Amino acid sequence: MIICAAALGALQVAGSAAVNAAPAANNANAVDYRQHIMNTLNEQAAALGQILSGAAPDDNVLAHLDVLALTASTALKAFELKVPGREARPEVWAKWADFSQRMTEFAQKTAAMAKLGHEQGKEAALANVVDALSCKKCHDTYRKEQPAK
Ligand code: HEC
Repeated sequence: MIICAAALGALQVAGSAAVNAAPAANNANAVDYRQHIMNTLNEQAAALGQILSGAAPDDNVLAHLDVLALTASTALKAFELKVPGREARPEVWAKWADFSQRMTEFAQKTAAMAKLGHEQGKEAALANVVDALSCKKCHDTYRKEQPAK
């Protein structure tokens, strides 16, 4: 019985730690999280831009496309907590159906581009890069750009 009580105690500690983890998802964290995701997209798009302009070798194209697709697939989740602030316009949540559809399409297009790259080669994939990386279209409506921190 003593062992049982000890095990139960440990479970309770673990359980309360899990419960306590929830409030850690506070507003500042929600904003930080979506910025990390957007900045990941930005770095990968910039790396691709260097390759397209001939400033970097093109060996990693498929890897960059994979990272972009994977990151894009995580982006919607980062906006699900309704925390206005930083550069997000309130329309993100006021027009959630449109915003989430755009983000979903963005993820689908980047995934299709990566798939095409694996199936038909990087040239074929890069022909879609402008259409797939429709960052500006969304930003024009949903992001209020601020000077760098
Ligand atoms: C469907 C909408 C949407 C798409 C697509 C999108 N973004 Fe964003 N992006 C946002 C919103 C909204 C914000 C503002 C987030 C905030 O400040 O909280 C943002 C912010 C950013 C930021 C600023 C992050 C910071 O530190 O403040 C960068 C950089 C960025 N996006 C890059 C990109 C790039 C690069 C792409 C395309 C490869 C992209 N985004 C695609 C909606 C989008």
